[in-house]
Amino acid sequence: MPLRIDILTLFPEMFAPVLGTSIPKRAAEKGLVSYHLTQLRDFATDAHQSVDDKPFGGGPGMVMMCPVVFDAVERVEAQDARPATRILLTPQGRPFTQDLAEDFARRERLLLIAGHYEGFDQRITDGLRPVELSIGDYVLSGGELAAMVVIDAVVRLLPGAIGAEAGAADETFSEGLLEHPQYTRPREYRGMQVPEILLGGNHRAIADWRLEQRKIRTRQRRPDLWRRYAERHGEV
Ligand code: ADE
Repeated sequence: MPLRIDILTLFPEMFAPVLGTSIPKRAAEKGLVSYHLTQLRDFATDAHQSVDDKPFGGGPGMVMMCPVVFDAVERVEAQDARPATRILLTPQGRPFTQDLAEDFARRERLLLIAGHYEGFDQRITDGLRPVELSIGDYVLSGGELAAMVVIDAVVRLLPGAIGAEAGAADETFSEGLLEHPQYTRPREYRGMQVPEILLGGNHRAIADWRLEQRKIRTRQRRPDLWRRYAERHGEV
């Protein structure tokens, strides 16, 4: 059974180029995943097709309304018997990480809610209890790009989505280390050389060198990740 991904959004057209390209596209063609887009505005109840309104108490911007989101979630969920993991994209959410991507890749069904405007009525999260996710400490104009980031990170982890040669083994964040430097032809470019060790064919030495490079990079660039790795592996 493919992973079913439902996306609730005011801008479904934003998703086509991303889901229709590269790995997300091929994963769907291989039957590993299916994407289902729902226009939130179809669930508006008034003549103006409103999905948002001014905040009670005043203040700038508009707030996504409860009835639209509740009705959309309930209707879409009823389209398939499998329970959905509800995900709401918001800068207030928990930081999205590779560990969460791996967790989501093992689910049967994900339902992502992307909002625009200043945010969601609090009762949407109180009532629907989604996982609230942020893709970083910056504010996007809507949750759509964040939803696409989550989908891309999840779909590429589905078994068979990427070639075996690209397997997760050495990837950035596997084991909590950044990736080592990579080189390809030519051996020399504008006076810059490929490290000699990579040309020798000594696989053991190459693996040792790569691991060392990963540690050096992680220590220099991401002391936060390094501390966690070092604690787990008894490094200093
Ligand atoms: N919506 C707006 N900004 C966002 C962010 N950084 N992460 C997730 N959803 C968002």
